[in-house]
Amino acid sequence: MRPMREKFGSKLGAVLAAAGSAVGLGNIWRFPIETGRNGGAAFILIYIGCIFLIGLPVMLSEFVIGRSSQCNTAGAYRKLAPGTQWKWVGRLGVLTGFVIMSYYVVVAGWTIQYAWLALTNQFAGRTAEDFPVIFNNFATNPWQPIVCLVIFVWLTHYVIVKGVTRGIERWSKILMPLLFVLVFILVVASVCMPGAGEGLRFLLQPDFSKVNSVVALNAMGQAFYSLSLGMGALCTYASYFDKQISLSRAAMNICLIDTLIALMAGFIIFPAASAAGYRLQSGDIGASLLFITLPNVFQQAFAAVPLLSYVFSLLFYLLIILAALTSTISLHEVVTSYMTEEFGFKRSRAALIETVTCMLLGCLCSLSFGPLRGIKLAGLTIFDLFDWTSSNLLLPIGGMLISLFVGWYLKRELVRNELTNYGTLRLRGLRVLIFILRFVAPLAILGILLNQLHLF
Ligand code: PHE
Repeated sequence: MRPMREKFGSKLGAVLAAAGSAVGLGNIWRFPIETGRNGGAAFILIYIGCIFLIGLPVMLSEFVIGRSSQCNTAGAYRKLAPGTQWKWVGRLGVLTGFVIMSYYVVVAGWTIQYAWLALTNQFAGRTAEDFPVIFNNFATNPWQPIVCLVIFVWLTHYVIVKGVTRGIERWSKILMPLLFVLVFILVVASVCMPGAGEGLRFLLQPDFSKVNSVVALNAMGQAFYSLSLGMGALCTYASYFDKQISLSRAAMNICLIDTLIALMAGFIIFPAASAAGYRLQSGDIGASLLFITLPNVFQQAFAAVPLLSYVFSLLFYLLIILAALTSTISLHEVVTSYMTEEFGFKRSRAALIETVTCMLLGCLCSLSFGPLRGIKLAGLTIFDLFDWTSSNLLLPIGGMLISLFVGWYLKRELVRNELTNYGTLRLRGLRVLIFILRFVAPLAILGILLNQLHLF
């Protein structure tokens, strides 16, 4: 007989775990970059629209699939749509989990190194010219980033083998509040810097002349990535939700938390960057934001008080480690639960297989900055290939299929029952939800896909 499935022990734990999955490098690294690249406040407004108009319905779909099936993401489709090809949606999710995890831990590993550099005060006295050199020396080094990556994967592994309640839920309840506190301190510090005004203006005064369809599509792609949609991470977590949890309220809370943290990351980074003399409008904030621009920002912005530079840098890298960890936990869980439930492995064995595989693939991704730099497919290094295929291809395709599945295939009654907890909660807007899932979300996602493939 199958062992009893674990469940999250409390509503708070469930919401924090799912919010932990959502809040990650996507919020603190990718969101500010996209905001910088796409013109600031106007992008943010469109992004918020995408979160609530499309992200929220797709998140509800993942919740409905997960909680009604009580299965890992691949098993869920087998159970809800037996004998059909929908099972491939779940399997695609598992594959996506593997791929994202393998490159995500490389960047997550870098944050460990940067936290270490901050802790040992190695940024002190450096100038803008030093930081690209520090980063390039580190990232191209054959073994240092690998050590960091291995540490990160094992941290994740440690939480996963403890299980759903004692591992994921317990650690989410510790890490997420810590993350809120850190974000809050950093926002206050950043906004109070002399010269922060221009950064604030950039975030708050929309310039709609910059908006075009590509900006809107970027906003939507970012919303998907940031909410962890499209690969069954939230579907897997929802399968551990208690029947009492209101799915719509949980989804709303997660969207709010995720958006708030992304905005706050903006309020940490842009005011500090303008205080340090960066010109935001001209795209000074580039892809190397976290590892080249920011350490310099922290040095320059607090040049008069070195202790503040020290504290700010250290807290910031700790913050990213926490955020990334709660996300890798969810990526890991998708694959671990799949292997335990579909192949009958013990949890520890399944986790080990995923951990070791990701470590190996992660090493390849990491080495693609150094010795394996020359290996390219379609002009992309191994790291870029993993990143590009997962965020631009696999997640949108997964998200589109998920919304089509709930919009067209699942019985309306089942969706209603899940969303009302079998008639005990009021539900408004089911028709609108189904309409969005049938037409709006799939078409919008198709737009992102074509945009990513440069077919627009
Ligand atoms: N949402 C995570 C982030 O913002 C990334 C992620 C995507 C995690 C998909 C799990 C699944 O960093």
